[in-house]
Amino acid sequence: MLGLNNTVSQQLNFYGNTTPTKLVEQYGSPLYVYNEEVFRDRCRELKDLVTYKNFQVNYSVKANSNLSLMKLAHEEGLKADAMSPGEIYVEQMAGFKSSDILYISNNVSSEEMQFAIDRNILISVDSISQLETYGKINSGGNVAIRFNPGVGAGHHEKVITGGKKTKFGVAISDIPKVKVLLKTYNLYLVGINQHIGSLFMDGDKYIEGAMSILNVAKEFDNLEFIDMGGGFGIPYQKLASQGRLDLVNLGERLDKVLHEFATEYGSEVTFKIEPGRYIVAESGILLGTVHSIKENFGITYVGTDLGFNVLKRPVMYDSHHDIEVYRSENIPSQNSHPVTIVGNICESGDIIAKDRLLPQILHNDILGVLDVGAYGYCMASNYNNRLRPAEVLIDSNGNPKLIRKRDTLEDLVRGFVL
Ligand code: LLP
Repeated sequence: MLGLNNTVSQQLNFYGNTTPTKLVEQYGSPLYVYNEEVFRDRCRELKDLVTYKNFQVNYSVKANSNLSLMKLAHEEGLKADAMSPGEIYVEQMAGFKSSDILYISNNVSSEEMQFAIDRNILISVDSISQLETYGKINSGGNVAIRFNPGVGAGHHEKVITGGKKTKFGVAISDIPKVKVLLKTYNLYLVGINQHIGSLFMDGDKYIEGAMSILNVAKEFDNLEFIDMGGGFGIPYQKLASQGRLDLVNLGERLDKVLHEFATEYGSEVTFKIEPGRYIVAESGILLGTVHSIKENFGITYVGTDLGFNVLKRPVMYDSHHDIEVYRSENIPSQNSHPVTIVGNICESGDIIAKDRLLPQILHNDILGVLDVGAYGYCMASNYNNRLRPAEVLIDSNGNPKLIRKRDTLEDLVRGFVL
């Protein structure tokens, strides 16, 4: 197989004993491929973020809830956050115990709260009215609260979850109301949490966010944990040599803040983080096939099976994903050429990469869209009645293993009632 610009996957030995072209032959196209070693490495990096003893990494499975990957996270000693009963359900299937899971709820019914209560899973509520709903059905119980101490960050306005323009969290000014409700319903506030948003590349905002949630913590006695949220970014522009988030520096600064707080607070409270993207983004590559190449009014369109039903991020957030080109035959590309890579969905916005300078692409080439392990498959859909792809894991011995089957036509009609 010829890899024309495959430095990233090669450096990681991403495909182990196989190749993208063989994988597509064996499992079909498009195809999500994950690498176990990359996934495990990222889990370990974050577990070692600080020296502070009571430190816990909760994998935010919304980024990727494939059962096999969740099992790897569990094996690595991570705990989990959940956003819905569905996430709780699969987390328990993956081996996470009730006490390993924090249900970070947002605008949920009392039935959904009951789902977690019945399973002894701690709920974090994110408004005064949700705290009241919870108090009514679980008076005397434990609870956590998500605060919005005013700091936000993220790669797009749609994913900034702290600060003044977001639906999330209880405002600091509502702390007196929180205290009244805790008393009224005899609730025990075991922890507080926040999430400033998704994807920061410089640790300043995270530290700022951590300090502001610690200020909120000082308002409450006997907290067992403080959860500072996720958002740790990865470099999506690797082919342009984008640098990594400096975890060592962030870890050192955070460590200092945590130790100082614990001393002042007078207890070795547990600190949690809840990363999704950092754990899983770089362990996933999406393979697709080139089915047509054409010139329309001076633009070269490379037509593939990578529609936005398969990967939504470029269309939803204008996100950049690097693309590698693989070829089964040994035909070198003549030159680099700007192309627009599109999918097979009937919308003109179905563009995965615009004006991208890549080695000349030929019919039947395989494209590898990098860094799609997070918010890739989990945001895929059956739009246009297309089948969601299969998922394959390259295990630690370099061998591929199917970890989710491709949808079938029968899957598309399963729920219909005639
Ligand atoms: N905790 C909470 C409460 C969250 O809402 C999120 C993400 C995380 C943790 C994990 O954030 P991470 O470490 O992955 O940045 N679909 C978007 C990202 C949405 C993030 C939603 N919340 C994307 O594709 O960029």
